[in-house]
Amino acid sequence: MGRDHRSRGNSRIEAAALAAFRQDVIAGLSLPQKALPPKHFYDAAGSRLFERICRLAEYYPTRTELAITRAQAGAIARFAGRGGVLMEYGSGESLKTRLLLRAMQPSVYMPVDISEAALRLAVAKLRRAFPGLRIAPVAGDFSRPLDLPRFRGRDRRVVYFPGSTIGNLTPQEAQAFLRMTRGQVGPRGAMLVGVDLKKDANVLHAAYNDSRGVTASFNLNLLSRINRELGGDFDLRRFAHYAFYNAPLGRIEMHLVSLRAQRVNVGDHRFAFDRGETIHTENSYKYSVEEFQALAAESGFRGEKVWSDRRGLFSVHGLIAD
Ligand SMILES: C[S@@+](CC[C@H](N)C(=O)[O-])C[C@H]1O[C@@H](n2cnc3c(N)ncnc32)[C@H](O)[C@@H]1O
Repeated sequence: MGRDHRSRGNSRIEAAALAAFRQDVIAGLSLPQKALPPKHFYDAAGSRLFERICRLAEYYPTRTELAITRAQAGAIARFAGRGGVLMEYGSGESLKTRLLLRAMQPSVYMPVDISEAALRLAVAKLRRAFPGLRIAPVAGDFSRPLDLPRFRGRDRRVVYFPGSTIGNLTPQEAQAFLRMTRGQVGPRGAMLVGVDLKKDANVLHAAYNDSRGVTASFNLNLLSRINRELGGDFDLRRFAHYAFYNAPLGRIEMHLVSLRAQRVNVGDHRFAFDRGETIHTENSYKYSVEEFQALAAESGFRGEKVWSDRRGLFSVHGLIAD
């Protein structure tokens, strides 16, 4: 499997990833509003929990985006072109991608994900399902510069970014990300982005507070990961999942609430929590079609196509490099 810094040994890369995780945790827990970047949810256990979330009745985004992609696969392939290089950021289990791979028949598929365990599993399954397809996986963090394989030829490059992962970035980060991908796809390139739409706050609330508590387990797994990998002593019974729609900012916020005043150690560092104090663990921004197209336009893309469901829950945007 390809990695950024591919010439170095695996253990050195893992040590660097662990050091980056430690640095983010120590810095994030030292902030006045404690906060951790959502990319750290995705160790092997976190990726498995996310896949369970995708199958929950309340979690409409995955099944809606899947249905849109299935219904529009032909139109999406006509827009994106056949036979080019398809790069996917945050590919996870590459579920919706299968529909695109069939419709677009790219010459190369390059999935990029921070969760090496999820990527490895997804690629093994894809190799069985698409034996003739050239797959060039990259385990890495798309919020940092990545050393990606280069492909010769004049094939069109298309970046796929489904699953509303763009909503986990602030609008400023999303713009920077789109500018980066604009540079990668080049003048004839395109992008397909799955964007969750603004809607009734009750529907959003149910999606992030499922009745089976899977989203709560996903959120709390971040603390288990800190315990496992960084020598933390978080007591998971003393924290609770909390998610709500922040309407003025147009985002779901996910937090972990301290259920009592307590102190927690992470390695040599000690952090104090008041009762009710939270760690902000994720944002999921929701956009109107117009808001997202305006964001794309400021990043060098023209919003050319939008595919959506009848209820207006979710959108898939076809962007062309301007
Ligand atoms: C919301 S999930 C979406 C998964 C899948 N694309 C889908 O549509 O269901 C986010 C995915 O992006 C990956 N991810 C999150 N932050 C990342 C980062 N900074 N770099 C690379 N991958 C990241 C996670 O491991 C996860 O697979």
